[in-house]
Amino acid sequence: MTKICCIGAGYVGGPTMAVIAHKCPSIEVAVVDISVARITAWNSDQLPIYEPGLDEVVKQCRGKNLFFSTDVEKHVSEADIIFVSVNTPTKTRGLGAGKAADLTYWESAARMIADVSKSDKIVVEKSTVPVKTAEAIERILMHNSKGINFQILSNPEFLAEGTAIQDLFGPDRVLIGGRETTEGQKAIQALKAVYAHWVPEERIICTNLWSAELSKLAANAFLAQRISSVNAMSALCEATGADVSQVSHAVGKDTRIGPKFLNASVGFGGSCFQKDILNLVYICECNGLTEVANYWKQVIKVNDYQKNRFVNRVVSSMFNTVSGKKIAILGFAFKKDTGDTRETPAIDVCNGLLGDKACLSIYDPQVTEDQIQRDLSMKKFDWDHPVHLQPMSPTSVKQVTVVWDAYEAAKDAHGLCILTEWDEFKTLDYQRIFDNMQKPAFVFDGRNVVNVEKLREIGFIVYSIGKPLDPWLKDMPAMA
Ligand code: NAI
Repeated sequence: MTKICCIGAGYVGGPTMAVIAHKCPSIEVAVVDISVARITAWNSDQLPIYEPGLDEVVKQCRGKNLFFSTDVEKHVSEADIIFVSVNTPTKTRGLGAGKAADLTYWESAARMIADVSKSDKIVVEKSTVPVKTAEAIERILMHNSKGINFQILSNPEFLAEGTAIQDLFGPDRVLIGGRETTEGQKAIQALKAVYAHWVPEERIICTNLWSAELSKLAANAFLAQRISSVNAMSALCEATGADVSQVSHAVGKDTRIGPKFLNASVGFGGSCFQKDILNLVYICECNGLTEVANYWKQVIKVNDYQKNRFVNRVVSSMFNTVSGKKIAILGFAFKKDTGDTRETPAIDVCNGLLGDKACLSIYDPQVTEDQIQRDLSMKKFDWDHPVHLQPMSPTSVKQVTVVWDAYEAAKDAHGLCILTEWDEFKTLDYQRIFDNMQKPAFVFDGRNVVNVEKLREIGFIVYSIGKPLDPWLKDMPAMA
């Protein structure tokens, strides 16, 4: 029986391995992690991450051919194929700080693999890594190998949180990069055989190592760039009276462009886009490609601009001050159908409003109070380290309360900001919300979920990103 071990039981390691176990009953899959809390949760009824469909897949295989364990060394030494899906945060100190990927966790995983291995292994990069990482990993493994043969493959993950199970069941493509040697090609075939249990052959792309590594960074950069492009348009729409939904619909109908990823919003978030673009920028700079680096940097700058613009709209509409005013925040996760808050635009928007001394009442259907308090007081990039290395639960931010109901959040508030596109925000009773708010009552829709006309009829002053402005906002500066 083939044995697979995955190091890192996070948003990628957990769901991908659960799906492999589900689709390949003949393969035994062990997911290991240094975080005891995470493994305990994977073995309980309350999984550590929220992902539609994940519970069923895990419950069907757990204890049969899917195991979660903290006994990292045992499972690594027994495995034929080892996936490494550990954190690859942005470096905060030293060479490349603020841009380069911190490969500390990757390197320690590679050294441990070399230490405990007694038989030949295929080591698969599942984490997103800088191009050429495989070379460094190869060197670590070879120099500590005691005669064991290691083949390194790059098999970046393209799942999107919120639709991870659907994406894993029917991926657009699976990408496998390997060495162009006979052993390298054999390793590619071995991994291909795993995916071939359910992925049609024409969707499995095999390339060299560097193309596979770079394709993942390129794919995320292209996706983020589409969001920044439509967000840049949203600012122009507000200035001209065009409606960004109409513009992106018309643009997206062009089959060369396509309709996806053209929704204007308060900005992109998630653990990957910013990190991977910063990483790409750093690699370009290291290769002397300043213009290319600056091109991609602009995608992040527009994203920051969009978040600032939103905060400024809120403050300037509300008589240029939100000091002491209650503002309801609906949605904190970086997108709907996930509880993940890593790099969520809500952090920057909330911090911007807190900087102007607002009192925030936050509601998100999937995010806990502890997580929100952590996020609002954590230093940039600290979130992307294993939980046990993160700062302990911080002293809570006093002007923030977290509630479990949108109506409670909005009660007596002066303004309401929608920061995640949860479906339930579309069907709230906005009349009831209006009746219980201070007047004038403002809605700032950062995700274009509300029916602007209806809300204006109720009496709200509404700002919706990229939509024709409410007369109230017309002569107010969008940026200070
Ligand atoms: P995560 O933070 O949820 O999970 C990583 C896990 O690795 C943590 O539980 C941590 O405790 C564990 N870990 C770290 N060092 C370890 C070690 N030496 N031994 C055992 N366990 C160790 O991260 P996530 O989101 O799963 O991402 C992992 C990688 O996948 C990153 O490189 C990310 O860029 C990439 N990725 C993430 C996607 C996402 O949607 N979250 C999508 C595609 C790729």
